[in-house]
Amino acid sequence: MVRITPLHPLFAAEVTGLDLASGPDDATFETIRRAFGTRSVLVFRDQDIDDEQQIRFSRRFGDLETTKVGTSGAGSRLVILSNLGPDGSIVPPTSRQMLNNKANRFWHADSSFKPVPAKASMLSARIIPSAGGDTQYCCMRAAYAELPQRLKDAVEGRVAVHDYGWSRSKVDPDLVTEEERRAVPPVRQAMVLDHGPELGRSLYLGAHAARVEGLDEAAGRALIDELMAFCTQGRFVYSHKWRPHDLVLWNNRAVLHRATPFRGSDEARHMVRTTIAGDGPTVETPHIAA
Ligand code: OGA
Ligand code: MN
Repeated sequence: MVRITPLHPLFAAEVTGLDLASGPDDATFETIRRAFGTRSVLVFRDQDIDDEQQIRFSRRFGDLETTKVGTSGAGSRLVILSNLGPDGSIVPPTSRQMLNNKANRFWHADSSFKPVPAKASMLSARIIPSAGGDTQYCCMRAAYAELPQRLKDAVEGRVAVHDYGWSRSKVDPDLVTEEERRAVPPVRQAMVLDHGPELGRSLYLGAHAARVEGLDEAAGRALIDELMAFCTQGRFVYSHKWRPHDLVLWNNRAVLHRATPFRGSDEARHMVRTTIAGDGPTVETPHIAA
């Protein structure tokens, strides 16, 4: 029997008693799917799984994204977030791999820079450091519900442009290659997503949100910054302290997440992600006309 226990007053829950080697059966999966709908983040404890098992479980939630060029795991169904190189030793702090890991310390939604952004992500802890390296989540449904009316009015019907080249440049101006820029040109995303009558609406933002359509550069940035500061207040945040063999699933359209620092030049951290593709774009025409 699976047990589902809330981890935060607003969202996130822990799932125990699940055996991914033998299931879950359809009834158990339905219980999990429903809990995921309302809690947005699920922490599955004690899942000592390999890549194939992770892919198999992830697929039950939908089709998987293929990892884009320039990211560890490119061309496969896996994203590797690790400070270990191919020979198993820790890579230097100036390496592309480390800089890309550092970019995850900005609040973000995975793949919000794609025309059809990801629905969900599943992250498996394979090696965790002794301290730090937590992952934080903030509840964008609760944030929208509490947003002052002035800000609700400001985002109503608005579109933000999400741009991977722009967000990665903040970490290091040379981090993004021309090939990456070509693969993921800027796209349009609704600033407010509707999850239906039971779940309400959420703000859709994060590190890739570069500007707001219809506002000049400075006004757009000011609005995004004000919204981000509001959404990421402590009362909307769940900090996940990883235990060995944790597997965490989150809804990229209802929460933002970020990595936190650890002693990355001394200690290993190796995580494997699968990304569940979205069912459709957030606006009718996500592409920007050339
Ligand atoms: C991710 C991510 C943060 C972390 O897997 O998409 O941003 O703490 N991870 O590793
Ligand atoms: Mn991420």
